[in-house]
Order: sequence, then C-alpha cells, then structure tokens
Amino acid sequence: MNLILMGLPGAGKGTQAEKIVDKYQIPHISTGDMFRLAIKEGTDLGKKAKTFMDQGELVPDEVTIGIVRERLSKPDCSTGFLLDGFPRTVAQADALESLLQELERSLDFVLHVDVPQDQLVDRLTGRRICPTCGATYHVIYNPPKQEGICDNDGATLIQRDDDRPETVAKRLEVNVQQAQPLLDFYHDKGYLVSIDGSQEINQVFEDIDQKLKSLV
Ligand code: AP5
Ligand code: ZN
Repeated sequence: MNLILMGLPGAGKGTQAEKIVDKYQIPHISTGDMFRLAIKEGTDLGKKAKTFMDQGELVPDEVTIGIVRERLSKPDCSTGFLLDGFPRTVAQADALESLLQELERSLDFVLHVDVPQDQLVDRLTGRRICPTCGATYHVIYNPPKQEGICDNDGATLIQRDDDRPETVAKRLEVNVQQAQPLLDFYHDKGYLVSIDGSQEINQVFEDIDQKLKSLV
C-alpha cells in the first residue's frame, strides 16, 4: 500500500495517519515529524529546518527531498508507506516520481483531506501534542480524558511552536499557494481521492478506510 496524505495545515493528516498506520501496519513518513525530531536532537538538519518552520515557510525542496529519499530507500518501506505532508510542491512531486521509478514502485492513492480554510485556524490554535509519545489532541474537538494530560503516558501536553496565531496565518498562506498545482498534478495522473475532512474524526477515517479496503 503506497499512499500520500495531502491537506492544508490542520486538515487532520497526522490524526488520520495514526489510524491508517495502526490498522495497515505501514511506515508513517511525516516530513514535519522528521524535522521536529531533528530540531529536538539539535542536528544540522534541525538547525536548518527550524529557521523556516518558525517563520511558517516551507523548508527548501533539496533538503526535504533528500530526507525523503533516504527514508523511502530503507527496507521497511519495501512493502508500503504512508507519506504525510510530502510532497508539498510540484518540484517535490517530480522528485518523488523519479525516486519511485528507481525503486520500481508506484503510488496507489493520493488521499486529499479537504477542509474549508475557515475551520483550520481553530484546529491549529487549539491543538495540543504530547512531547513524549507524539499523540495529537484538540482542546475542544479531541480532548484528552484529563485536561492537559496525555491519555497514553500521563505527560503534560504542549502547544507546537508553529501553532502560535502569527505563524498559523503564514503557514496557511504559503500552503494554499502550493496546494492547487499539486492537486492538479495528481488529479491528471488519476491518483487523487478527495476525502471530506470537515466531518468528525472517526467518520473521516471510515471514508479513508473504504478506499483502502479495496487495496487489500
Ligand atoms: P507538518 O508537521 O507537516 O505541519 P502541517 O502540514 O502544517 O500540518 P499539521 O501537522 O499542522 O496538521 P495536520 O494536517 O497533521 O493536522 P492534525 O491531524 O494535527 O509541517 C510542519 C512544517 O514543517 C511546515 O510548516 C514546513 O515548514 C515543514 N515541512 C514539512 N513538510 C514539508 C515539505 N514537504 N516541504 C517543505 N517543508 C515542509 O490536526 C490538527 C488539529 O485538529 C488537532 O488538534 C486535531 O486533534 C484536530 N482535528 C483533526 N481532525 C479533526 C476533525 N475531523 N474534526 C475536528 N478536529 C480535528
Ligand atoms: Zn503521550
């Protein structure tokens, strides 16, 4: 199962990715998560990515393509993968196409989690994450059992640095600009599946799952 999960910031990619990889046991490749881990570890990649992420800008294509190339070439991706948040530009999509050709693989679906822009600011500013296990919550739409505490491990939840209102606005602007050409790219190739991401979390997953069941 070779999948891409696309959607604007806050559309629910990470939330749905957790459910997909749990059910179908394929590696979850999130470029955002990879950059956040590199920042936490203080690596050169992390230092480079941080300057862009803090501004709500995209990390340059050559950096992003490089880490995905390395990750997709690992043996655990040979039976499938879920790319989350990559590609985000047509240049990244072109690079992915060449890489998949080299690896003799092809995509099954590009799942586009579609949410009207006016819902996204709320979702992003209300998001809380667990610094220990990475679980994602929302103060209203997906609250933990006990306020501010992770259900899995009792850690105190935090807000992502780039979920501050100033950065959220910039992220949305930058991503909206890139989105349409990328949707056209995958639509023209016949891979694009649009999912109504404005529904309740479990309903969104059911719609995704209906598509994925056809692959197994
Ligand atoms: P990344 O981490 O990928 O961030 P993003 O694309 O901005 O997406 P988010 O993680 O913010 O949102 P999501 O769609 O995963 O939503 P979530 O499920 O958490 O990237 C971060 C940065 O890294 C980028 O800005 C860029 O700088 C860099 N980067 C990453 N990839 C790159 C690339 N390919 N090229 C260049 N730069 C790159 O949900 C959001 C909230 O809503 C949560 O609180 C959740 O609980 C809630 N929620 C989810 N679903 C629902 C629902 N159905 N109803 C109600 N609430 C919901
Ligand atoms: Zn946790």
